[in-house]
Order: sequence, then structure tokens, then C-alpha cells
Amino acid sequence: MIVVKAENVVKDYGLNGRGTSAGTTVHALRGVNLEFKGGEFAAIAGPSGSGKSTFLHLVGCLDTITGGTMQVGGQDMSMMSRKQLALLRRHSIGFIFQAYNLIPVLTVEENIGFPLTLLGVDRKEIADRVAGALRDVGLEGMAKRRPKEMSGGQQQRVAIARALVKKPALILADEPTANLDSTIGREILELMVKLNQKEGTTFIFSTHDSMVMDFARRIVHIRDGRVERDEVKPA
Ligand SMILES: Nc1ncnc2c1ncn2[C@@H]1O[C@H](COP(=O)(O)OP(=O)(O)OP(=O)(O)O)[C@@H](O)[C@H]1O
Ligand SMILES: [Mg+2]
Repeated sequence: MIVVKAENVVKDYGLNGRGTSAGTTVHALRGVNLEFKGGEFAAIAGPSGSGKSTFLHLVGCLDTITGGTMQVGGQDMSMMSRKQLALLRRHSIGFIFQAYNLIPVLTVEENIGFPLTLLGVDRKEIADRVAGALRDVGLEGMAKRRPKEMSGGQQQRVAIARALVKKPALILADEPTANLDSTIGREILELMVKLNQKEGTTFIFSTHDSMVMDFARRIVHIRDGRVERDEVKPA
């Protein structure tokens, strides 16, 4: 089954010039063709500014595309309203952001449980699943803290737990190990491999980390908004 199908995907960002100068356009993606099948464990690699986060944001239905078409879970997101995009995201996609995007006024357990609250899961089940997710990422005992009371790596693990807790079919992770030491990074990757193998969860990462690339079974190299090389490792 094809989970993501990008055809000639273009993404431009408009930068508004000040004063009399006209606005300029950043061409973040310049015609990307990529397919990801269900159950893949893939990394997107490339220099800073090459378009990795932009691509993941589009797959994650967090932004709209400028040109081309994109199908996610068999649905054509290029034709969807913002509301339809939000529903697709809420039900089927877990997103781990490069900047964590935790909600500062909520505690760790509230942050992790939030996607389940949105889905209307009952409180007892939320509590059970949040406790399990906290164990998975090694943050037992930190349930009542707020994000600003934690280190960067701990916040990153909260963001990972929040993405895992609703057991989505597709998890997109933007530099998931960037602020973790290599031991914790490896544990988190092993947890993701386990989910991939047991639940068939599809993972797409963006990364600079050679350890993530070692774990990945496919590495898509992008440069200047284009796919430069698509490397599938032998089974
Ligand atoms: N919201 C935005 N508005 C304008 N330009 C943007 C925006 N987001 C990204 N860009 C630009 O689009 C290009 C691609 O950015 P993107 O964040 O996708 O790169 P990246 O590969 O994730 O880089 P990094 O490895 O540094 O995270 C860059 O030139 C960047 O400056
Ligand atoms: Mg990025």
C-alpha cells in the first residue's frame, strides 16, 4: 500500500519585502517525486535549508502545497480544506517537530495526552496510555512537570511520546535525535523500530544524524529542494 505519493511537489514561501521593495519568493521544493509504502522506515537527509522540514510539513498536512499533487493515506491533500487536513492529521499522523512544539502551560502528561483528548478517548485509557508512553521514552516521574522545567532532550522525548501515544499509522519526525545523547537516541530509535515491526507503523525522519541513517532502511537525499538520490538498502 502506498502511504505517501508526491508528484512534482513544489513549495514556495513568500517573504514580504519592507518599504518599497517587492516581496521575494523562496523556492523550498522544486518538483519532488517520491513514494513511501506502508511499513517503511525511511530517512530524508540533506544540507541545512534543502527542504527536509518543508517536505515533512506537507506530508503531515501542516501546510498547503504550491504546485503538484500529494496523496497521504490514499487521500489527495492538495485538494483539501484546512479543516479536512486537520482531521486527517488528527486521526492518522503523529508529528515530532524540530522545535518540539509542546504546549507550555500544560504538564508533561497533559501534553502527551492532548492528541487523545482531541480524539475523545476516555480519561482512564488516556491515563494508562500516557503512563506507558512515559515509560517508553524513559520519563517516568516527570509527568507533572512543565516543558520549561526540563532539558531540551527531555522535551524532545515528551514530543516523541506525544506522537507515539495515539498509535498513528504514519509518524513523521523532524530531526528526532538532534538533542539527545547517543545512548538515549539509540533507545528511542530501537523503540521506533519495534513499533515499525510490531504495528507496521510507517516512519519518515529528517536527519543529519548518521545513527538515524544507519537504522533507516531507505535514505532519500535532497538538495536545493530536489531529490538527488534515493538509496534503498538491500534487505
Ligand atoms: N516559513 C518560511 N518562510 C520562508 N522561508 C522558509 C520558511 N520555512 C522554510 N523556509 C526556507 O525554505 C528553505 C527550506 O527550509 P527547510 O526548513 O525545509 O530546510 P531543512 O532542510 O529542514 O533545513 P535544516 O536542516 O536546517 O532543518 C530554506 O531556504 C528556508 O529558509
Ligand atoms: Mg529542518
